[in-house]
Amino acid sequence: MEVIVKENYEQMSRLAAEMIADLVRSKPRSVLGLATGSTPVGTYKELIRMHKEDGLDFDQVVTFNLDEYVGLPTTHTESYRYFMNDNLFNHINIRKENTHVPDGLAKDVTASCTEYERMMVEHGGIDVQLLGIGGNGHIGFDEPGSSLASRTRVKTLTKETREDNSRFFASIDEVPKYAITMGIGTILDTRRVILLANKESKADAISAAVEGPITAMCPASALQLHPAVTIITDKAAASKLTGNYPAEPHRLILK
Ligand code: GLP
Repeated sequence: MEVIVKENYEQMSRLAAEMIADLVRSKPRSVLGLATGSTPVGTYKELIRMHKEDGLDFDQVVTFNLDEYVGLPTTHTESYRYFMNDNLFNHINIRKENTHVPDGLAKDVTASCTEYERMMVEHGGIDVQLLGIGGNGHIGFDEPGSSLASRTRVKTLTKETREDNSRFFASIDEVPKYAITMGIGTILDTRRVILLANKESKADAISAAVEGPITAMCPASALQLHPAVTIITDKAAASKLTGNYPAEPHRLILK
C-alpha cells in the first residue's frame, strides 16, 4: 500500500486526477471504476478542467460505478447515476453508452448484478478504481461484515451510513435502506486502486484500513490484499496514522 499525505483537499484531488489522466493518455480505451460521495468531486472537477483546457480525451473511455441506491429513479437528484452525469459525464466527451452505473430499479436485481459483473469482464476489467471511504470503513456500499470475497449484490445500509448520507436528503426517512454495490472481491480484482479520504471524520477509518488488521469489520482493510493501492489523504484524515508517509508517490505513471 502506498500512502500519500497531502496538505489539503485541492492537492489530493489534483494528484488523483493526474494519475487518472496519465492512464487515459497512455490507454485511450481505459476502463475506469468510479465513486460517488463528496470526496471525489474535486478530482472530477480537475478532470473536467483537463478536458476543457488541455484536451484530455474521454471518447474511448469506459466507466463502471461502484454502487447505486435501490429504488431511486435516475432522475432523482440523489441517485448515483444523476450524480455522475451532473459531476462528470455531462462536462466531458465521454459516450453515455460507455458509462455504467448499477440499475437501482432492476426488476430482477440478482440477474442485473450478475450482468454487471459480466460486462466488467467483457470490457477487460477495471484499470483503475477510485474509492472514497465511509466513516465506518465501508468502501462502495460494502458495509462492515461484508464478505471479503463478495461480488456485486444488494446490501442493507447500516444506520450509521444512512445517517451520514441523510445530509443529502430532506430527512433520514428518505434515505434508501438498500443499495447495489460491487463486492470487495470485485474491487480486489481491479488492476489498481486509488482511495481518497479527507477530513478528521475519516481519520479512524483510515487508521483501521491502513494500519489495522484485515477484517470484514473494516471493509477498506481488505485493500491490504491488493497489490497496487494508493491511498491519498489530507493531513486531517492521516492524523491517526502512526507511520511516516510521504507527500509524493514514487511513480505517477499508471501503465
Ligand atoms: C457513500 C458511498 C461511498 C463513499 C462514502 C463516503 O456511502 N457509497 O462510495 O465513499 O459515501 O462519502 P463522502 O465522500 O461524501 O464522505
